[in-house]
Amino acid sequence: MRRTLHIGGLELESPVMLAPMAGYTDLPFRLIVRSFGGLGLAFTEMLSPPSVMRGREKRVKFLVATSPQDKPLGWQIYGKDPALLADAARWLADRGAPLIDVNMGCPQKKISGKGAGAGLLRKPDLAVEIARRVVEAVKVPVTVKIRLGWDNAQTAVDLAKEFEKLGVAAITVHGRTRVQKFEGKSDWEAIGNVRAAVDKVPVIANGDVVSVESARDVFRITGCAGIMLGRQPIKEPWIIRDIARDLNGEPPLPPPDARQRFELMMRHFQMCSDMYGEKQTVLHFRKWVPQYLKGRSVARPMLAALQQVKDAAELKARLMEVMM
Ligand SMILES: Cc1cc2nc3c(=O)[nH]c(=O)nc-3n(C[C@H](O)[C@H](O)[C@H](O)COP(=O)(O)O)c2cc1C
Repeated sequence: MRRTLHIGGLELESPVMLAPMAGYTDLPFRLIVRSFGGLGLAFTEMLSPPSVMRGREKRVKFLVATSPQDKPLGWQIYGKDPALLADAARWLADRGAPLIDVNMGCPQKKISGKGAGAGLLRKPDLAVEIARRVVEAVKVPVTVKIRLGWDNAQTAVDLAKEFEKLGVAAITVHGRTRVQKFEGKSDWEAIGNVRAAVDKVPVIANGDVVSVESARDVFRITGCAGIMLGRQPIKEPWIIRDIARDLNGEPPLPPPDARQRFELMMRHFQMCSDMYGEKQTVLHFRKWVPQYLKGRSVARPMLAALQQVKDAAELKARLMEVMM
């Protein structure tokens, strides 16, 4: 039987989601992951209310770019002003956003230090107020993405109960505290405690799911209704498909071979080029190339040369040399 997930009125084709990731989960990458199938829901990277509402400006137009194939898409907003966040949510929902997610987990100093993102975990009353105002502002499902707490895991348990009462449609929990940033391991048992604290609202487990086996483990340990993957799909955009197939009892598919990986990169490059322009994409791809090459033994001088390519033709030629 097919495993699906309902978030509010939204039926997702699978309970496996692509995490919001600033600098990575733009439209081209979301389409790359979607092209494999099995993806329940993807998210924009976190957007500030002014960025959302001035989306046509050059500086932010790529952050808010989407397309008819890019569905369903959760729009993630961040900030600490309940009224502004409610306005941004309303603005998005009025323009067709099917789901709004509020970021309460970003550990970056420039965000959490100013009281937004994970900074809200130090002010649970404000976090609850924000969730309430956003839920009241729109008819579409509102989800929140939190960490376990600022420095201890009780915060997530307490917050989840409040979020459930006020009608949040799903709660994603990254199993680390703000203090941990990305250190240590995502604590799936602690995520399970959050899950056990609420009955009505689906909890989505996040952090360190990297394979079909770890996906099985995280479902078993947390009892969560869904899972969300961030970093692994950057290296293996097909991993979400593999996990969704496993959940449905379908046999595994072989990972793409060298030629297919090369073609995937070229397709990704082309989509970025269509959006950002070739010159910008050559720079943008400096972060993607090492990701796609992870696990392959590539000589250092070649890696360095790949970071200095000047145009698409040179990138293609060098990648062919490395990958084929
Ligand atoms: C480069 C990068 C950017 C991220 N940007 C966001 C973001 O915009 N919003 C958010 O909620 N989380 C963001 N995260 C956190 C991820 O969504 C996710 O919670 C985290 O990476 C743990 O999941 P993983 O172990 O599957 O990567 C980011 C993570 C990374 C590595």
